[in-house]
Formats: sequence, structure tokens, C-alpha cells
Amino acid sequence: MTLININDFESAAREKLTQMAYDYYSSGAHDEITLRDNCDAYKRIFLKYRVLVDVSKRDLSTEVLGHKISMPVMIAPTAFHKMAHTDGEVAVAKAASAADTIMILSTLSNSDVEDVVKATSNPVWFQLYVYKDREVTKDLIRRAENAGCKAIVLTVDAPVLGTRERDVRNKFNLPKGITVKNLTPARKENLPEIEDSGLSAYVQKFLDPSLSWKDIEWLKSITALPVLVKGIACKEDALLSVQHGVNGIVVSNHGGRQLDTCRATIDVLPEIADAVQGKIEILIDGGIRRGTDVLKAVALGAKAVLVGRPVIWGLAVDGENGVSSVLEILRRELDLAMALSGCNSVEKITKELIV
Ligand code: FNR
Ligand code: LAC
Repeated sequence: MTLININDFESAAREKLTQMAYDYYSSGAHDEITLRDNCDAYKRIFLKYRVLVDVSKRDLSTEVLGHKISMPVMIAPTAFHKMAHTDGEVAVAKAASAADTIMILSTLSNSDVEDVVKATSNPVWFQLYVYKDREVTKDLIRRAENAGCKAIVLTVDAPVLGTRERDVRNKFNLPKGITVKNLTPARKENLPEIEDSGLSAYVQKFLDPSLSWKDIEWLKSITALPVLVKGIACKEDALLSVQHGVNGIVVSNHGGRQLDTCRATIDVLPEIADAVQGKIEILIDGGIRRGTDVLKAVALGAKAVLVGRPVIWGLAVDGENGVSSVLEILRRELDLAMALSGCNSVEKITKELIV
């Protein structure tokens, strides 16, 4: 069967993956209400479009933190790509390169950051989890810098891990031979074997739940790279991000995997865009599955969107080629949505589209 949209890729990926892997990738916290609503919220937004605009030439490119990318779609940081495909994060980096966009690499990747950066001619940003042991954290940042990463994306919505009940039932752990590669030097490359989610135990054991706004200063004092904060979900925290001098924020609820019943990200974006007033760049993720979703996010104030699960489905289906196909589907759909709504460039995508 030809796979023509992101949902087709999810179904095909499900066939290929073990139950444990599919459940890990697809699940959300508790009743998965936010997981579903991240997608459903886009379906509640209706578009007002304009006609008789010359859309014979359309420019999808944009700039994020000064980097030109070919479309306002980037790759969200997601953990453990080798459960989906043996080429793991390196395959994703190659697809990011082919699509001319930015990949954000998870701290919890199954590939060394150096190998990932080498696989793409586009920027790789490093998603950071802060370890209780700050020396481990500093070493991780040094390593990402030396590898050539171009920004640090600090994830702030996971002081502890949300309960994904499917992972608890499956006693989620990494298959043999797959480890958290970037943490090998610190000997934190394996998840504990327990009668529960091994990832939840890992987070509890190693990651620092005391992280607070003052640590933004700490982070900025130990790296010269731009810092983005990922996991902002209300205007108050967006304003604090501006006050603490970060370069950008990612409006995110971790794909519905942390606090269940929190608001869908696209519902929160307008209040955040309003508060930030263009002072720093705003990215958004969660539930983006169609070109019209990208159009709506940009219209409501995002510079670009990140996609998480769609990339994993592509990877599981056909490695680098699968990820490329997923990115090209989103590109084609966005291009079509722009043509049909009277937008011939990304700058033309404004709030006017939303009724
Ligand atoms: C994630 N996410 C995530 N975020 C992060 O900062 N570090 C990480 O290691 C991970 N790992 C991870 C694994 C898996 C399997 C998923 C699905 C998600 C969250 C991710 O960056 C992003 O916020 C969501 O995936 C966006 O939602 P969609 O696009 O998956 O709906
Ligand atoms: C997750 C973590 C690793 O969502 O961020 O599974």
C-alpha cells in the first residue's frame, strides 16, 4: 500500500515495531487526554482563506535563530531511535539534511552526538536533560559543543517522568545492545531493570527535579551557545523565559506524555505569542500531523513547528527514506495549504487566516 499521509505511516510503523516499542513511542500520560487533544485542537480551528492572490511561486523557507531552513518544520527531540531502526538517530540526521532542516537531538539518544552531527550538513541542536550530577551535565554540554551542535534546548517539563501506563504494564526497557550512548562516559547508559517503566526509574535516579529558573543563569554561564527552553505551556512562564534572557521557547507539553489534561499546545500558543510580543522566537510542538496544522501554528505566532512521532513512524517504516518521506509529505501539504489560502511565502501566513 502506498503511504500517502502521516496516519498511514503510523499504521505501517505499528506493524513493524514490537508492542513495547510502539507503545513507548505512541503513548501519553495516564488517560492520554492531552495526547489526543494536541491533535484534536487543530481540528477545532477553521481557516479563512483568500483568493485571487498570485500563488504561482511559493516560498516555504524561513529562518530560526538566524539559520535558514527550507520550511517551518523541524525535528523534535525524541529518545531511543534505535528501537525503531538500526540506523537510529544517524538516519534521522541524514533525512534532516536532505530536507534542509534542523534536527534536535535528544540527550537520550542511542547514537553518539558526534556521529549525528557528521551525518547532516544542517545544524543539530542538542536537547538537554540536567543530571543531578552537574559535572555529568557539564561534560554533556562540552561534548555537544565540541561535536558542533548549534544550540542547547533545555527541556523543563520533565522534573519527573509522567506515568505512561502502557510502559508500566510492559515493564518498558531498552532491548539488549541499545544504550543511551551520550551517557556512556558517565556510566549512565542503561535503564534500571525494575517491575515498572525502566525509563521512569532512570529519570528519578539521575535527572534533577530541583531545576529552577536560577539554573537558566547557570546554564548560560557555562555555554556560549544559544539556549532555548522547551516545555513552556502558559504566558507566565513565557514571560519569565524572556526575562531570563533565553533565545527562544518551545511551546510544548511533551506530546501529552507528562501532565495529562493540560491544555493542547495550539490552544496555548495565542496567549504566549501575545505575551512575548516578538521578543524571542517561539516554536511549538505536539499533534502536528498535516500541512494545515503547520499553517495554523505559524498563523498563531510560531516561527516553526517541531514534529516528534511522525519522524519515528517514518524511521520505523524505512529508515532514512521513511523519515524523508514523512518530511516531504508535510512539505507538500503545507505547500498546498499555502497555495489554497493565498499565501505565497511564510511571512504571508498571519492571524488573518484564523476566524
Ligand atoms: C519525546 N519527547 C522528548 N522531549 C525531549 O525534550 N527529550 C526527549 O528525549 C524526548 N523523548 C521523547 C520520546 C518520544 C517517543 C516522544 C513521542 C516524545 C517530546 C518531543 O520532543 C515532543 O515534545 C513531542 O513528541 C511532540 O509531539 P508529537 O509531534 O509527537 O505529537
Ligand atoms: C520521553 C522522555 C525520554 O518522553 O522525554 O519518553
